[in-house]
Amino acid sequence: ARELRVLGIETSCDDTAAAIVTSSGRILAETNVHQHAVHEQHGGIVPGLAANHHLMNLPLAVRSTLEQSGLRIDDLDAIAVTRGPGLPASLSVGVSAGKTLAAVHAKPLVGVHHMEAHALMARMESAHVRFPFLCLLVSGGHTLTLLAHQVNEYSVLGSTLDDSVGEAFDKVARELRLPWVDAQDGGGAGPALERIARQGDPRRFALPVPMDKSASARLLDFSFSGLKAHVRRMREAGQFSPASPQDQADVAAAFQHAASRHLAKKTALAFKRAREMQVEVTCLVVSGGVASNLAVRAALEDVARREAVEMVCPQPRLCTDNGVMIAWAGVERLRLGLLDPYTIDFIQRWPL
Ligand code: KG4
Ligand code: ZN
Repeated sequence: ARELRVLGIETSCDDTAAAIVTSSGRILAETNVHQHAVHEQHGGIVPGLAANHHLMNLPLAVRSTLEQSGLRIDDLDAIAVTRGPGLPASLSVGVSAGKTLAAVHAKPLVGVHHMEAHALMARMESAHVRFPFLCLLVSGGHTLTLLAHQVNEYSVLGSTLDDSVGEAFDKVARELRLPWVDAQDGGGAGPALERIARQGDPRRFALPVPMDKSASARLLDFSFSGLKAHVRRMREAGQFSPASPQDQADVAAAFQHAASRHLAKKTALAFKRAREMQVEVTCLVVSGGVASNLAVRAALEDVARREAVEMVCPQPRLCTDNGVMIAWAGVERLRLGLLDPYTIDFIQRWPL
């Protein structure tokens, strides 16, 4: 059979992204218009501004994606768009565009759950990733473990009770006065923290691993605000100085160690829960900006090794929000006939 070709549109947060991928996992074209610079001056994402930028940028992003692919819209087999969760005004721009394109060209429409798309991404790149698998998403926006049973069938096992792990890296980096980088693959101060931590001694400032004695109801959840607060109090109490490179390195190493231990412990507990649910997990997928941290990776590799499963990380540019993951989720859903009518709305809060 001929390969399927799906256009994916993503506007759930602050990236305007479009891509066309095939059912064999080839990326025919991709466009991603970042808005980091727009929001940075405001110290965070401004929802109204984000929606305005989607409104301005999405038509040309789709146009340029089609041009790169050399296809016409009639050559597509479906149009996939992020339906939620996300910022309502941002979502509505993408959903409206996706529905209209699909309706006008009488193409199948696929409304995609943003987190499902993150989880399925690994299956495009690696044929080893079969269901059921465990997925750990660690980024600026997400910190959660989810069990992927099938396409369209997931259990969220744990998620953060406060800050995301990426936010924790960024806030601790700020306490250490480390620079923010505005990378193509997503911005943050995590990479600077990782770099300086290599020169550090993680034992000089012992940071408590979060939630080591948490109650059973919250056993699988994450918490990062305590670590961040601990580092702030240490600085306020004069226990270290951000002006000293050795102090910076030692605190960074201690934080990175505690954060990695926390992620690893919770992931190990998620494997245990899966066993209790009689689900035989075959693979650990780790995705999100923080997945590029080598200390985090090593800690999770350890968990995977103990569980005798392979660990797979999508390449960094596909770990962050992008159009490829939406198009690929569209392929996966289209193959199963999981289509949506042209009347769908966005869903701001959407449990998986
Ligand atoms: O997935 P991502 O690029 O985008 C969003 O969540 O929107 O994640 C960005 C987060 C930032 O907090 C950044 O500091 C963190 O991932 N990050 C890292 C590293 N690279 C990116 N954290 C620790 N170590 C890294 N090498
Ligand atoms: Zn995301």
